[in-house]
Amino acid sequence: CGIVGYIGNQDAKEILLRGLEKLEYRGYDSAGIALLNDDELHLFKEKGRIADLRKEVDTSVEATAGIGHTRWATHGEPSQINAHPHQSSTERFTLVHNGVIENYQQIKRDFLSEVDFVSATDTEVVVQLISNLVEVQNLTVEDAFHQTLKELHGSYALALIDNTNPETLYVAKNKSPLLVGIGDDFNVVASDSMAMLQVTNKFIELMDEEVVIVKRDSVTIKDMDGNVMEREPFTAEIDASDIEKGTYPHYMLKEIDEQPLAIRNIITKYKDENDNIKLDEDIREAMKDTDRIYIIACGTSYNAGLVGKQLIENIAEVPVEVHIASEFLYNMPLVSKNPLFIFISQSGETADSRGVLVNVKKKGFKSLTITNVPGSTLSREADYTLHTHAGPEIAVASTKAYTAQMAVLTLLAVDTAQAKGMKLDFNPIQELGIVATAMESMIDQKEMIEGVARNFLSVTRNAFFIGRGVDYYVCLEGALKLKEISYIQAEGFAGGELKHGTIALIEKGTPVIALATQKHVNGSIRSNVQEVVARGASPCIISLAGLEEEGDTIVLDEVHEHLTPLASVVPLQLLAYYAALHRECDVDKPRNLAKSVTVE
Ligand code: G6P
Repeated sequence: CGIVGYIGNQDAKEILLRGLEKLEYRGYDSAGIALLNDDELHLFKEKGRIADLRKEVDTSVEATAGIGHTRWATHGEPSQINAHPHQSSTERFTLVHNGVIENYQQIKRDFLSEVDFVSATDTEVVVQLISNLVEVQNLTVEDAFHQTLKELHGSYALALIDNTNPETLYVAKNKSPLLVGIGDDFNVVASDSMAMLQVTNKFIELMDEEVVIVKRDSVTIKDMDGNVMEREPFTAEIDASDIEKGTYPHYMLKEIDEQPLAIRNIITKYKDENDNIKLDEDIREAMKDTDRIYIIACGTSYNAGLVGKQLIENIAEVPVEVHIASEFLYNMPLVSKNPLFIFISQSGETADSRGVLVNVKKKGFKSLTITNVPGSTLSREADYTLHTHAGPEIAVASTKAYTAQMAVLTLLAVDTAQAKGMKLDFNPIQELGIVATAMESMIDQKEMIEGVARNFLSVTRNAFFIGRGVDYYVCLEGALKLKEISYIQAEGFAGGELKHGTIALIEKGTPVIALATQKHVNGSIRSNVQEVVARGASPCIISLAGLEEEGDTIVLDEVHEHLTPLASVVPLQLLAYYAALHRECDVDKPRNLAKSVTVE
């Protein structure tokens, strides 16, 4: 979910709606805004997209304060009633919330047994409790807000307005991201700076459990004990034009196309004047000292982590384990004596990963975050950060962030090998440059790939991706892309494993996409292809120049064997994109998903 707030001298309506449009990647099943002019509150909520909300908003309402929300449902189905903002029964207080209040049932029982709740959300207890403390127990609004926060277990980013005081927004966060944006005679609140770049690029970071009073000309931050905290704003370095689609029909296609540029950008950012890779000295030491690396991530970032394991083990000879964050959180394996935890996260906000980071810090272990958003929570809270420099990624299905993560992991592996004094016959700057060119040549063959997608994937119910070694890891990502945006049931398998069960699913015409970029297993993956073809499958073979055979569907330009995943994922991304297009799916905003999942 994403939240926004505005208080100032202009009409809040348009600023809030535009802000929500920029936050839509965080959830888009329902949305709402509350506008306060003098002491009259206007509430608009709608199931569906921000575009649907826009149609419902009364354009004649002008207000200088307001809050807004775009939702990814956790408690309660997507509906108008469950959409935020939520109000107290007296309608005096109105609130938006991102996160999950874990003890909401307990709060209802302990404090609010007399209250009639209208929604099925966990959020409504927050606004009802504040209202109760003010209207029944006569606390000031600030004290009631403060008192309520103390009762909440879970995660929240909150913005509250009080009808009787159109001069103030009450704001707080715990675990969920939230920033205050600073303007000239106005201030704003947003889950992500992108939402408010339209009006300001100056933002103040908020810390967990602070209470923040936002007025048009001031921002007062207090800690849980009521002490006022001073904090300087920072300047967001994103350009507003970076987050526009330009002439592209979809962000996803734009972001696929931007991959060669992102790779070149990474090389420039991490090389020194002598064309050597040079990472931060502290990171280098931490990598050198550790006896085992634990990579923690979710979704596409987890898939990049699998490739990262291969890179770090092969290049730097440090053992690596890769774990799904939500599993590691509750089923922590035995860890080595001197572990280093690497968190990979495009957004830097994923709650599952953050949960692990909190535990790891408590145990005193060292942590490094690899992220595309340097000021994000995972970046701030880890000991070290490596920035992936891919530029904002807006499409829900991750593409350029994935390849950028693998490029940065390559540099990390190389830097570590150098620090350990190992002799390398691999020049990462040169080899990544070759990768960028190979990506370009694949992107130039879009039309051919569109044809393949039309033939193979436009009507099928399912699809399989097979590969061996690092190709298997790329298959997991290819399958994830396809299922995310085209809703085809797709799975990635290790080529040799298919015959131990899954081959039962192969029928006449089942698409099987095989990756053949690994010399040492080229013969065996091709045998696996024959096994499925013998059972009726339609194969699509993607091979690397030098390993290709007659009849291969797509041939990638040759790249170094360490770096094949960066090139081989590009046709898989394009296949998923065109499959989704042919199946008339919403490419950038697939159903049920959100780009940044800030709940566990
Ligand atoms: C969500 C997104 C995925 C993403 C995952 C991890 O589920 O839909 O595309 O890979 O979160 O996100 P992160 O920002 O931590 O990389």
